[in-house]
Amino acid sequence: MKLKTLLLALTAAAVVTGNAFAQTPIVIKFSHVVANDTPKGKAADRFKELAEKATKGRVKVEVYPNSTLYKDKEELEALQLGAVQMLAPSLAKFGPLGVKEFEVFDLPYIFPSKDVLYRVTEGPVGKDLFKKLESKGITGLAYWDNGFKVMSSNKPMHVPADFKGMKMRIQSSKVLDAQMRALGANPQVLAFSEVYQALQTGVVDGTENPPSNLYTQKMHEVQKHVTLSDHGYLGYAVIVNKKFWDGLPADIRTALDGAMKDATKYANAIAQQENDKAMEAVRKSGKTTIYSLTPGEKAEWRKVLLPVQKEMEGRIGKDVITAVNKEAAALGYK
Ligand code: LMR
Repeated sequence: MKLKTLLLALTAAAVVTGNAFAQTPIVIKFSHVVANDTPKGKAADRFKELAEKATKGRVKVEVYPNSTLYKDKEELEALQLGAVQMLAPSLAKFGPLGVKEFEVFDLPYIFPSKDVLYRVTEGPVGKDLFKKLESKGITGLAYWDNGFKVMSSNKPMHVPADFKGMKMRIQSSKVLDAQMRALGANPQVLAFSEVYQALQTGVVDGTENPPSNLYTQKMHEVQKHVTLSDHGYLGYAVIVNKKFWDGLPADIRTALDGAMKDATKYANAIAQQENDKAMEAVRKSGKTTIYSLTPGEKAEWRKVLLPVQKEMEGRIGKDVITAVNKEAAALGYK
């Protein structure tokens, strides 16, 4: 009698769901450290929407923004352990994982334009970098753009000499460490979630980030000066736990690949406008003075920062740096 009731219930469920057995969805936990209202935050939400639609609900994507689940270093460990399935760390955060080549993206002035950047991320250089993640149990799915960085602090920063002795927060990249030292500053690695408080309490004097991060973390409220220096780039690698990814049913993986392609197009289409909007909002807040370098000052910055490219050859690999420079040359940049 009991068995008959169970069979009846299952038949009813099959009618409702169209399945003999209602399936529990595959859950993708996608953790990141920035606000929802940023290029990465918006792209993660778009991926969730597209992925759930493309898999007709067989996949559920749970997005955890703003370091609510894990902070910078922890999130990479969590991914390797399988506690989360997907992340999009900044390209400056792969050094501690032992994949130092990613720090090529941090070299000052390495990308003369976004076109060069896209040739790198969408071409063989981007693919080769992703191959280096496989031995770490990680699969690279896509590169998401953010933008060129500005400098912020409580003192004006017009020429490199202004940085002398300043404590500057950096991400965990040796290239960024060398960059700040070249400017005469004292770099300090801090997790993104700790930056606002460190700036507010004076643990550090300043930092660098694209405007979208500066604004959404309210850093402009505790930084009197911003310099539009465009001295370096910040973008992301969307990565998954390899074992999880390889273990997915093939049709699901294909659907997720498609969703990721569309989310990537969206991410790259909104990045610049999100940063422009954020800069405008900082300007309107009236809390921060925004400074544009004169051509002479720009030349001084370049003179001090360009040698970092050579200095970091041993760490990143000359071949990777040359490959990036070749992409720039292909577009007519020297
Ligand atoms: C930072 O740590 O400064 C940022 O790169 C955070 C992010 O993911 O954009």
